[in-house]
Amino acid sequence: MTSVGIDAMEIWTGKLVLDLPNTFAPVKGEDPEKYTKGLGLHTSSFPDVYEDIVTMGANAAKQLMDRKGLTPADIGRIDVATESAFDNSKPVSTYIAGCLEQVYDGDFRHANKGERKFACIAGTQSLDDAYNWIKAGRNRGRAALVIATDTALYERGDPGEATQGAGAVAMLIDEDPDLVELSTEQGYGSMDETDFLKPNQQFPSVDGKRSMQVYLARMREALEDYESVAGRTHPDLFEYIPFHTPFPGMVRKAALLGFRHMTRDTDIEDDLESEIGRQPREADFETWDDYEEAIRGYMDELKTTEQYRDWYGRVIEPTLDISSRVGNWYTGSVHIARLSALIAAADEGKDMTGKQLLVGSYGSGAQAEIHAETVQETWLDEIEAVDVDDQLAARTEISFDDYELIHDVHNHEKEIEVEEFTQPEAEFVFTGWGRMNERRYEYVE
Ligand code: CAA
Repeated sequence: MTSVGIDAMEIWTGKLVLDLPNTFAPVKGEDPEKYTKGLGLHTSSFPDVYEDIVTMGANAAKQLMDRKGLTPADIGRIDVATESAFDNSKPVSTYIAGCLEQVYDGDFRHANKGERKFACIAGTQSLDDAYNWIKAGRNRGRAALVIATDTALYERGDPGEATQGAGAVAMLIDEDPDLVELSTEQGYGSMDETDFLKPNQQFPSVDGKRSMQVYLARMREALEDYESVAGRTHPDLFEYIPFHTPFPGMVRKAALLGFRHMTRDTDIEDDLESEIGRQPREADFETWDDYEEAIRGYMDELKTTEQYRDWYGRVIEPTLDISSRVGNWYTGSVHIARLSALIAAADEGKDMTGKQLLVGSYGSGAQAEIHAETVQETWLDEIEAVDVDDQLAARTEISFDDYELIHDVHNHEKEIEVEEFTQPEAEFVFTGWGRMNERRYEYVE
């Protein structure tokens, strides 16, 4: 059986950075701790005037191709996942391929290009598409380029404004991968929901509190579905559990739910019995509401136990570092959670070869997916080659007024001229519109 998975990954962050507790919260009249302690966010990335989903995606992809010594002939497929697309017909992958063809010999005419849409889960769905294409033997020895790129902006004044972000993740999917192998087993929780959507509008309509409930409900279903094919999960089986991270506070809730589910009828539930009792069982309650209330009470106690806190600190907390510094990258968000975890493992000198990750993706509308990944022998070389800290440190800090200008620059309804905040160097930039209203790009040295 061919092993298929992620061979390498690279990121590209928006070049501007907004300090949420110190710059954003005071102007909004909010307590900075809502950000640092509540949402778990410190800073978020924003795109400069000349950046957008195409430039960020193409720049991440170029870094990946350069590092792995690839040419267009090595890539048989380019899939872009985004929920920030500006065209209902021409996919973003064609723009990105056009950019890359400016700098490489050869072209991508042989490559199948597409665009995946299902809110934030589309990045993981694109991985699936690439995986299936290779497993089916249709790749003719070529690899797939999967790019998750988003500018996560909300209407000004919307509560979602607190969780914005912008950046891209490029992943190379190949046989005998150098980073992680994807499991064949996967589980889904999927249902028609109206929690977060963009009905032909740039900024989302969001029912924030409901979106959090829907995330948890679908994630629980996906975990059950995963177990139905892969067998029972247990907290000790997974070194890290990267979740889709709209903001770290959301993952705190998902992790608690996951831990309760995984520990039911296990040694851990037995160990905790004397401290917090056994988990409530539905059969012991007359109504669903009574059962739910008992579960909430149990979870409130569970999260204070040493066992839970220790597990959370080891398995979940390391997945949240990048997210807390860049905000929501929508389709790329779960993939930077995986990267965060592996960077933490490298920093701690852990031997990760053969270790398992359980990956929980989510997209509003709504669908969750769970699969496992096995870390490969060459993982450390791959992780050490990614320059996350340098990129994040190189961002230019913006004031609240600058933030409003940048929000307007990227608002499709507004036309304003704003000087760029940074100087582009050795990267793709947006240069304006062509005669058919297409967006145009150039590589600047
Ligand atoms: N000190 C410590 N904590 C504080 C605090 C303070 N001073 N002030 C507030 N908090 C806590 C709150 O208690 C809350 O935590 P809990 O949920 O654990 O109680 C947290 O900080 C956030 O505070 P609020 O609930 O008051 O924040 P809000 O009303 O401004 O809304 C939000 C938060 C609903 C997430 C909003 O930002 C939003 O709508 N975001 C966009 C939607 C979203 O990201 N949904 C997530 C699930 S959907 C998804 O995952 C897809 C996606 O990517 C969009």
